[in-house]
Amino acid sequence: MKAVVYTKYGPPEVLQLKEVDKPVPKDKEILVKIVATAVNAADWRLRKADPVAVKLFFGLTRPKKSILGGVLSGIVESVGSKVTRFKAGDQVFGSTGMSLGAYAEYICLPENGIVAMKPYNLSYVEAATVPFGGHTAIHFLRKANIKPGQKILIYGASGAVGTAAIQLAKLYGAEVTGVCSTANVDLVKSLGADRVMDYTKDEIDGEHYDVIFDTVGKIPYEAVKKTLKKKGTWILGASGFSQMFQGYWSGMTNGYKIISGLALEKEEDIRFLKELIEKGKYRAVIDKSYPMEQLSVAHSYVEKGHKKGNVGVIIDETYNQ
Ligand SMILES: NC(=O)c1ccc[n+]([C@@H]2O[C@H](COP(=O)([O-])OP(=O)(O)OC[C@H]3O[C@@H](n4cnc5c(N)ncnc54)[C@H](OP(=O)(O)O)[C@@H]3O)[C@@H](O)[C@H]2O)c1
Repeated sequence: MKAVVYTKYGPPEVLQLKEVDKPVPKDKEILVKIVATAVNAADWRLRKADPVAVKLFFGLTRPKKSILGGVLSGIVESVGSKVTRFKAGDQVFGSTGMSLGAYAEYICLPENGIVAMKPYNLSYVEAATVPFGGHTAIHFLRKANIKPGQKILIYGASGAVGTAAIQLAKLYGAEVTGVCSTANVDLVKSLGADRVMDYTKDEIDGEHYDVIFDTVGKIPYEAVKKTLKKKGTWILGASGFSQMFQGYWSGMTNGYKIISGLALEKEEDIRFLKELIEKGKYRAVIDKSYPMEQLSVAHSYVEKGHKKGNVGVIIDETYNQ
């Protein structure tokens, strides 16, 4: 099969289209013919080992897993002898977790992995973009125990995590303020934000928020101190070392509850997202899509940090409807 592989950490050009062995499903695995995947922030971070601590888990001198890609949609081609939940022909979407491997024509997934039937009302490429932002936003909003009527500020409202967080926080009944740049104000409003602030023009002040969710690790600390309620919750969704330090220090001095760390994906959440999508309560936000052959171009674009929602990758155009 064709796959985009990398054998060393580095710039987008380390991604190379190659022929590799097609995987064979074990007893409790399904073999999925991948129709679409996506390029997420995690992908370029793994590709270039940024932060360098990536190497501790994914290979000290070279990547241990040569095929990136953590999300997918596709069609079950065959199933292992002990699989009961899926059958050949099922249209599915999901995440590969830490196993990666979705930049390829085929993948084997455990039948009890993060995989569900694809929402009937999404194309394959739309479906592939849902799990990354969706799971991350669900994880952090649940940890923050967001409640109806609470005021939340979502910083970085136009990215993969931000566009998911806006929609989910509204569904949880919160009063939502999104922060983005001028070009994304209409998008953030269209996702249901009650109020939108433009970080290129507006000073973040005024409201006293119960929760601040910084999805991009860029909110100025002064803005947090000015606008987060005493004992409010600060979600550090993407913090570097200095923001993490500020976060924990301010937690001790101002009584904030600090939430950070890795977002864990749960099997039930992929079904939750599917239900919301099929009921018309949640939508996929796609900036643009690239063919598999242009995965390195897609990486260059995503790495700039200004995509709107998600960037899809079409592995097999004939099925992408
Ligand atoms: N903790 C975890 O487990 C976990 C899980 C998933 C992701 N993450 C991390 O979360 C971060 C966000 O992921 P993502 O996929 O949402 O990223 P993304 O889609 O690449 O974010 C792009 C968005 O960020 C906005 N942005 C850039 N600079 C900004 C600034 N100074 N202020 C406000 N918004 C700004 C951009 O809007 P403009 O173009 O308008 O600037 C753009 O829409 C990444 O660093 C990722 O590694 C962490």
